[in-house]
Amino acid sequence: MDDATTRKLTVRDLAARRAKGEKLVALTVYDALMARMAEECGADLLLAGDSVGMTVLGYKSTIPVTLEQSLHHTAAVCRGARRALVIGDMPFMTYQINGDEALRNAGRFLQEAGADGVKLEGGRTMATTLARLVVAGVPVLGHIGLLPQHVLANGGYRVQGRTPEEAAALMDDAKAVEDAGAFALVLEGIPAPLAERITAHLRIPTIGIGAGIGCSGQIQVAHDILGLFEDFIPRHTRRYAALAGAMRQAFSAYAGDVRHGRFPGPDESFQ
Ligand code: KIV
Repeated sequence: MDDATTRKLTVRDLAARRAKGEKLVALTVYDALMARMAEECGADLLLAGDSVGMTVLGYKSTIPVTLEQSLHHTAAVCRGARRALVIGDMPFMTYQINGDEALRNAGRFLQEAGADGVKLEGGRTMATTLARLVVAGVPVLGHIGLLPQHVLANGGYRVQGRTPEEAAALMDDAKAVEDAGAFALVLEGIPAPLAERITAHLRIPTIGIGAGIGCSGQIQVAHDILGLFEDFIPRHTRRYAALAGAMRQAFSAYAGDVRHGRFPGPDESFQ
């Protein structure tokens, strides 16, 4: 029997969910522990996002993230996930130079890290590269709208698609990504009505982040919704926990106990 509640999900399952009007739950996580917890709690898709550069590695943007770093975190997520689809995020300059390099690097996510697919940023300009990966058998998650890897070129992070020209360009980008063979498309930082229109025009599922309720699913960075990452709180995030505060309390209590000779006690020692 094909039980999609226990076996590994596939890109076809996501398409079927969209066809039935069921919302897709996606989360960015970076390690095996969080991957396991996220899928136990209902995540369908786990992205080992290049946002790891900011949330975990201490960079100011995703630009410095390397292929090796992304592979390392993707492999960890794959080890933790049994059921969710795991997508590796192709870092800046690992797919833009030419199709050969993009294909070679995408292949490493599948062969070395064990990912079920890759994500890359860009619309029409990336469609040829994207199609090349798809033809070779690499499932690709597209990503248009606010593109974090363009932060330097754009001079910051800005909601996209507010003018009629930008909105039309994004619609063209979305169609190009679908036509190139992507199995789904991340819509980041675009007005909700536009994201809804794009979703209605596409056959593939859209996964929104800062793109309103009209997408086929939603993705958030686990560190944001857990209240772990405090450098800035994106407007599109809802905090479901305040773990940074809880961690500080625990670290302080531990430090105090060690300093004042209260840790370890007899129960934590061997005789
Ligand atoms: O790196 C990431 O976490 C992402 C998501 C926010 C879509 O690209």
